[in-house]
Amino acid sequence: MSEKTVTVSDDTTGNKVQLALHEGTHGAPCFDIGSLHEGLGYFTYDPGYVCTASCSSAITYIDGDEGILLYRGYPIEQLAEKSSYLEVCYLLLYGELPDQRQKEEFEYIISNHTMVNEGVRRFYEGFRYDAHPMAILVSTIGALSAFYHDSLDITNPRHREISAFRLIAKMPTIAADSYKYSLGQPFIYPLNALGYVENFLRMMFAVPAEGYQPNPTFVRALEIIFILHADHEQNASTSTVRLASSSGANPFASIAAGIASLWGPAHGGANEAVIQMLEEMLNSGVSLEDYIARAKDKDDSFRLMGFGHRVYKNYDPRAKIIRQVCNDLLDELGAENQPLFELARRLEQIALEDDYFIEKRLYPNVDFYSGIILRAMGIPLNMFTVIFAMARTVGWIAHWMEMMVDPELRIGRPRQLYTGKGQRDYPE
Ligand code: SDX
Repeated sequence: MSEKTVTVSDDTTGNKVQLALHEGTHGAPCFDIGSLHEGLGYFTYDPGYVCTASCSSAITYIDGDEGILLYRGYPIEQLAEKSSYLEVCYLLLYGELPDQRQKEEFEYIISNHTMVNEGVRRFYEGFRYDAHPMAILVSTIGALSAFYHDSLDITNPRHREISAFRLIAKMPTIAADSYKYSLGQPFIYPLNALGYVENFLRMMFAVPAEGYQPNPTFVRALEIIFILHADHEQNASTSTVRLASSSGANPFASIAAGIASLWGPAHGGANEAVIQMLEEMLNSGVSLEDYIARAKDKDDSFRLMGFGHRVYKNYDPRAKIIRQVCNDLLDELGAENQPLFELARRLEQIALEDDYFIEKRLYPNVDFYSGIILRAMGIPLNMFTVIFAMARTVGWIAHWMEMMVDPELRIGRPRQLYTGKGQRDYPE
């Protein structure tokens, strides 16, 4: 880190403290506030961590103003065009693209960890048939630690790596199982000869009574969705995984915490919320203009799902890529004139031209288009966030593995600004 410093002076007392300035490869430098309390007696205050770096990381870089997203230095546009999801997984985990031998070995390892212990399948039977697949996923992934006592020593690099393989490999199986359980259909076992995405689609939609061939356009669209969602720096769910595992919690429990955070409609639940919002708009008889007005009304909690982003203030580079995938898919399916998709296009156009959204820098984000693609592919609505969780599993794990070897690793324990009652005595 650089020797530069920043001096903070207290206008009230005149006291000053010098803080070390850390400069990274790209992006805003960070000044180290570790000595601020000792030097000036203050904490920093930043609800939602709008401008607070929680760690240093070499995995993903985002530039919100320039619309840049790099995985280990590679632009997301190039990876979406040229790579595969498992190759991106290798890149995120190990820091470099695999050579042909490494790629084939990694694909073989992952494909040989896709089955789950049969006891896991009995675990599902405790759920009502209509349980939300995210509820099944978050609890089943947490429960996996009950099955893998042989690899829970987080200080053992080999244990960390086998847990990473198991989570990446088993997420699609458990995700598909949760869907099959809700249908009352038999579970479909993975086929190791199939690619990662084909295997998932087959486990989701095949039935024992007949053969199944995935639509190659759907396979490529889902592969791109997986690549685009694989990692995204210190987003809410990744920060949750880091905080949970900073206490030494095992990777299955920590990833389950990440899944729980992702479920929220302001985060990974947005793709499901986009379709729910569009369907409400279609069926409510309320005009689009009225919905736009509600979205601008401070007193109305309504938000346009799929719009806005904490970091991207010009456009989400993933949205730019996935928008084309979405339009191509709708054209191929001849679905572009279906009311829901036509409404989405109108909403996108209005928002892109509306002064409020332009001023607030609210653009369609990746979830706006991924929701439409998944709906067009016939993926059930309650599986949208499950698919986001499947894709993001590798990002969560990459950050977990990076953190486990970080010399600055300490248990995460933020402070607070106390605004409660002053000290008082219990009444006599
Ligand atoms: C993801 O962090 C990540 O990287 C997340 C993610 C990832 O890959 O991990 O990119 C995935 O979560 C994408 C975002 C999906 N969420 C949605 O689409 C839900 C709708 N979006 C909003 O909830 C909101 O935009 C957030 C949560 C995405 C961002 O919230 P911020 O940064 O805290 O911004 P904010 O809520 O403070 O909004 C700033 C202003 C506010 O107005 P003012 O108080 O300044 O007057 O913009 C307004 C908000 O009212 N605003 C919106 C809006 N989003 C923000 N107004 C209408 N509709 C919206 N969608």
